[in-house]
Amino acid sequence: MIDMTAYRARVDEAAAEVRKKLPFAPRLGIILGTGLGALADEIDAAVSIPYDDLPHFPLSTVESHHGRLLAGTLAGAPVLAMQGRFHLYEGYSAHEVVFPVRVMGALGIDTLLISNAAGGMNPHFRRGDLMLLTDHINLQGHNPLEGPNVDAWGPRFPDMSEPYDLELRRIAEERALERGIKLQQGVYAAVVGPNLETRAEYRFLRQIGADVVGMSTVPEVIAARHMDLRVMAVSVITDECFPDALEPVTIEEVLAAAAEAEPNLTALMKAVVETVGAPVAG
Ligand code: HPA
Repeated sequence: MIDMTAYRARVDEAAAEVRKKLPFAPRLGIILGTGLGALADEIDAAVSIPYDDLPHFPLSTVESHHGRLLAGTLAGAPVLAMQGRFHLYEGYSAHEVVFPVRVMGALGIDTLLISNAAGGMNPHFRRGDLMLLTDHINLQGHNPLEGPNVDAWGPRFPDMSEPYDLELRRIAEERALERGIKLQQGVYAAVVGPNLETRAEYRFLRQIGADVVGMSTVPEVIAARHMDLRVMAVSVITDECFPDALEPVTIEEVLAAAAEAEPNLTALMKAVVETVGAPVAG
C-alpha cells in the first residue's frame, strides 16, 4: 500500500525546493499539454526549473524528458506552469502523475488551467476544434486518491458534482466569443492508452455520454479538486473518431492538428489568465 505520509513529505520537500527558486508566490497553475507549448513563450521573466533538479519528481521517460516548471508572470498574473506532464501509459502510478499538481497546491495556487489532446466522437466536432470540458468520465481504473486520505489536502470523499469551475467556463466562453475562437463544450472520457480506440470502443464511449476521449487530465483534475482548486480544462480535438467512418491516425497527424490549434488555444488561455489574474477591483 502506498505510504501517504511519506508521499506527502516528498510533496512538501519538492515544494520547499521550488519555493526557494521562485520570485513570488504563484496564484495560477497551468499544465501545458499538447497544443499549448507556445504559451510558455508568453510567460515573462520565466524561472525555469527542470523536473530533474527537483527532489522526488518522477523520473522522466523519453517522452517527457524536457519536463520543467516555468515560473513568471503571464498577463500580469503570477503563474507556475508545468511544461511536460506524466501519463499512466508511460508506467507512472496515478500518484506519480499528480505529484506536480500536489506540489503546485502546496505552493498555494488557487486555480489550475489544463490543456490536452483528445479524439472527438461528437459528430459536430472537427479536427482542430477546441473543447471546453464541462465534465469527465474516469475510465482509467486508477485514482490519485487511492490509499489513505491526506486530510490536510482534502476530504476522503470529495464532491465531483462540478469539477470544472462554472465561473472560469463563463469567462472562457466570453473571451472565445470576443476573439472569434470556436469553442465547443463537452464531456472528456479518460482512458489509459497508449493505443487509440477501436471502433467498438469509440461507439461505446459516445453512447455512455463522452464527446471526446484522451489519456490525461482526469487524475490531475481529481487531485486539484481534492485540494479545492478551481479548475478549467480545454481539449484540442486532434482526430475525428466516428466509428462508422474511422480512418487510421498517426501521431504526426495528431501533433499537426495540435499545432494548428495552438495559436487559438494560446490566445484563449492568456485571455482567461488576464481576466482571472487581474487585481480585484475596489
Ligand atoms: N483516443 C485517445 N486519446 C487521444 C485520441 C484518441 O483518439 N486522440 C488524441 N488523444
